[in-house]
Amino acid sequence: MNTVPSLNIAGAQPLQFPIPANVYAQTVVSVRHYTDRLFSFRITRPQSLRFRSGEFVMIGLPNAEKPVFRAYSVASPSWDDELEFFSIKVPEGPLTSELQKIEIGDTILMRQKPTGTLVVDALTPAKRLFMISTGTGIAPFASLLRDPDTYEKFDQIVLAHTCRDNAELVYGQELVAALENDPLIGELTGGRVTLYNSTTREQSARMGRITALIASGKFYSDLNIEPLNPQTDRVMICGSMHMLRDVKELTESHGFKEGSLANPAEFVVERAFVG
Ligand code: A2P
Repeated sequence: MNTVPSLNIAGAQPLQFPIPANVYAQTVVSVRHYTDRLFSFRITRPQSLRFRSGEFVMIGLPNAEKPVFRAYSVASPSWDDELEFFSIKVPEGPLTSELQKIEIGDTILMRQKPTGTLVVDALTPAKRLFMISTGTGIAPFASLLRDPDTYEKFDQIVLAHTCRDNAELVYGQELVAALENDPLIGELTGGRVTLYNSTTREQSARMGRITALIASGKFYSDLNIEPLNPQTDRVMICGSMHMLRDVKELTESHGFKEGSLANPAEFVVERAFVG
């Protein structure tokens, strides 16, 4: 059976734990800390892994006989030869209290089956796609925005990202800024992606929860666009549990029907939290 050293605890001899069955052991290739609450990292991609852009995987650390696994949306597109993730850091979190300490060369465990509802195949074609996210909920959209299939299905994409403070918005701002120069999809994305940011706990150019900004109409007037309409639009939603519930309710109040791979329709909600 394969074993990998556990993460280094300063001065301690690395312990050896067996890699559980049906789990990939991958290597960290980069780590970037955005704030004391958010960081992103990239790992090597198992050759046999296939996933749809927007799906999530279960990841863990090789630091226990029975490691803790948590759902992480893959933030890189399905064609990328590495896997990217965008993570929160929870001081007492069973996984992220340790995960936030990873360094290049460390081992990440990943269960072998990707899954998820935030995939373009769960939506019927339309003119505009609205990606509504808060915090690390932007991750599946980072994947979808770098996938040519998204641009084949929709003409215009609006990415709404709300965070507590300005520094938490940087990941998404850099992502969108890099799209136009992307060698693979740069030509497709030109002029078709609009980023809509707001903060809720730090002063910024635009403040407020996305639910309030949509409900008041400010979202539409700021962007100079027509209101959400199931005839022309599709919606994808990803964020905290309460956010999912509230944005889903708001979307349904506009007459949108929830879709799935079996029955594609007008909006989809991340199911990693809501089960
Ligand atoms: P707020 O600061 O008013 O709680 P978090 O990092 O806690 O997941 O929050 C990310 C962003 O999501 C914050 O700006 C937060 O606003 C916002 N948020 C939290 N709950 C909801 C909700 N039910 N509907 C819309 N936005 C929400």
